Amino acid sequence: MSLEKVFQALWSDYIELNPSSKKIFDALQRRGEEVQNDHIAFRTLRHPRLGIDQFAHPFEALGYRKIRDYHFKEKKLYAWHYEHPDENAPKIFISELLLDQFSNFCQSTFCRLIESLQDADLTHPDFSYLGRRWQLSSSEYLELAQESEYAGWVSAFGFRPNHFTVLVNRLKTLKDLSEVNAFIKSLGFNLNSSGGEIKGSRAECLEQSSTLAESVNVEFSDRSLLVPACYYEFALRYPGTNGKLYTGFVAASADKIFESTDRPLHLKS
Ligand code: NI
Repeated sequence: MSLEKVFQALWSDYIELNPSSKKIFDALQRRGEEVQNDHIAFRTLRHPRLGIDQFAHPFEALGYRKIRDYHFKEKKLYAWHYEHPDENAPKIFISELLLDQFSNFCQSTFCRLIESLQDADLTHPDFSYLGRRWQLSSSEYLELAQESEYAGWVSAFGFRPNHFTVLVNRLKTLKDLSEVNAFIKSLGFNLNSSGGEIKGSRAECLEQSSTLAESVNVEFSDRSLLVPACYYEFALRYPGTNGKLYTGFVAASADKIFESTDRPLHLKS
């Protein structure tokens, strides 16, 4: 499958779960903007059958290469970002939950879920939007989410894009993130304000903001629950010391962006 077809499939999966992003995308197009995607982010688990390398395999087959890794100590996550030789192709950001640092409950639940996956699922060229192929109860989900919002998210949604990101540098009618944020709020969407609406700085060569994930009804084995799904991100990049636009990520900012899928207080039970 060509790069373009893969991204179309990923985008369809993403906007089905997160119609707000489509509304924002459409509103940008109505202003005459051509939206370029800076990166697509995915979540997975560190396990002998899964992990970043396994997840990246189909992207590497399309020409993507590993560029830089990131540590998120507090959230117990590790990540790599990948780039394609075509500079207009979005970067791919894949993070994994360091399962061995979590409780016995978390480890044994995920081991059971992961063992239920077929070998053919794991090597599937469409693994990046395979979705959830396992069954768990609402109480298992809630216990995982209480220990780690990230763990809860992966258990509820499986493998699929967590967010797409608008490259603000390419917008013609909105010049910086404060203008983008004001526009998003004027459309009636809420922004993630953890650590301030704008994460990062010109000095770090990257500023980012994001919407708060909208909650969708997810079916568990006993009942359905509202679970925060995906969000839309906005990135403004600045030139690095080599004069070219910085292509990396800022761990401290990404750390706060991860919280865009935290369960709102009224859902914390
Ligand atoms: Ni991101």
